[in-house]
Amino acid sequence: MPVNLTNTQPLAWDSANLDADTKAMLDNLQPNILQPHVREHLSVLFLHFGDAADGKRLLKALVPLMKSARKHLEEVRAFRQSQAAGTPYVGVGISKPGYLKLGHATNAFSDNAFKSGMKHRKDTLSDPAVSSWDKHFQEEIHAVVLIGDATEPVVAATRAKVLGLLPASVKVVGEETGLGQRDAQGKGIEHFGYVDGRSQPLFLADQVTEEGKGTNWNPFFPLSHVLEADPLAPKPKQHFGSYLVFRKLEQNVRAFRQAEQDLADHLGLKGDDRKRAGAMLVGRFRNGTPLRLHGKASADTFPVQNDFSYRDDTGAKCPVSAHIRKTNPRDSRDGGLERSLGVMMARRGQTYGTRADHPWDDAPPETRPTGGVGLLFMAFNSSLQNQFEFMQSAWANTPGFPADGTGHDPVIGQGKRTGKVRFPESWGATKLSPSQVQVPQTVTMKGGEYFFMPSLAYLKNP
Ligand code: HEM
Repeated sequence: MPVNLTNTQPLAWDSANLDADTKAMLDNLQPNILQPHVREHLSVLFLHFGDAADGKRLLKALVPLMKSARKHLEEVRAFRQSQAAGTPYVGVGISKPGYLKLGHATNAFSDNAFKSGMKHRKDTLSDPAVSSWDKHFQEEIHAVVLIGDATEPVVAATRAKVLGLLPASVKVVGEETGLGQRDAQGKGIEHFGYVDGRSQPLFLADQVTEEGKGTNWNPFFPLSHVLEADPLAPKPKQHFGSYLVFRKLEQNVRAFRQAEQDLADHLGLKGDDRKRAGAMLVGRFRNGTPLRLHGKASADTFPVQNDFSYRDDTGAKCPVSAHIRKTNPRDSRDGGLERSLGVMMARRGQTYGTRADHPWDDAPPETRPTGGVGLLFMAFNSSLQNQFEFMQSAWANTPGFPADGTGHDPVIGQGKRTGKVRFPESWGATKLSPSQVQVPQTVTMKGGEYFFMPSLAYLKNP
């Protein structure tokens, strides 16, 4: 039976009744797509193939260091049951120029953004000029190798193995190093200090059971959001891959923290209510409490909540411009724009850069870094054009989405921030503040590329 990408039930990956095609799909799919793989420490190697033969030799040689999605899911279960340590993550993605260099035509790939490459999508995305990107991203990148684990020595050892496999004509054009950030409670945060990676589309039955189908938000999304038949694999009905968007996003933490303070001042917020300023930019307080549900952050021990929609909030609680509302309008219109348009993607980013201060605390803006830290934004898509690009350009960068006067996404919006915006003066108040200029852009794209993460079946015989 062909893999049902549009199944309305989450995939019970461990079911004894799984059909042969779905089993083969899980045995050949790379990990980290259906379920996040631990990558507290992450090395990202960007490669250039000198010739097709060496490129293919390397891809084949990498397979023994990799594991399947099924093996990963089994490792996750074993860890939860008995704390058994898993194996490191090695993921491989190939860009359009990479496939061409390997001697493959790319017309069988359905995605136009992938077939153009990120450098050629800058007008669609309002990205900065390629000449301003970090040098290695300006080069032609053929492949990416992601090496992740909970500990740094394991990443270092696996990285050394990968480098030891590189044939002479394969060059490392650049490298990024991811390093997880955690708040005082151990929750994963990004550099502005907010809990991240909480709201995700879930594909698997055990994930959906664990989070629970909420009364306001169903975290289940069909596999069609992330999987695409691998057109170059021996059996495209069993062998699937996913498009990876990689973007290095530098965060000016000082400027963002100053913007939070300025907004609190403009709105006349006092005492603890000043924390609502940042929450109105993100849509959650720093500890993940959703502004849609609470006007104050819940206790830090409270689980990070995800069961909410914006159906009954015109912006009095969570402004329509908040980052998480712009990028996921959650059933607020037309039966759920994110569902009817199929936009949600699986975010798998990792923070980069080290700092001496505590990103989660209230130390003043002037003690915060202005650069050198940020997010290695990564997400899996079945269509880069309809998911990542649509979310970034039609939603985050468009001041008129979802309605006139919304403004840019204050966190990731790119393009000139003209037009003024308004915020609720108190939580739940229909009275909005006088119009004010939007917060400045504090996230800068430093380069990136689109890749396809092929099936293991392809990599064994590229
Ligand atoms: C430095 C850049 C970024 C920062 C600091 C950032 C920060 C955050 C934070 C703090 C959350 C809340 C945690 C959660 O709900 O999971 C979040 C959620 C989210 N972000 Fe970002 N983000 C960044 C880049 C992006 C980009 C580039 C996109 C897509 C184009 C994006 C899309 C989303 C989505 C879809 C959610 C979940 C919304 C929901 O389902 O409620 N983010 N982000």
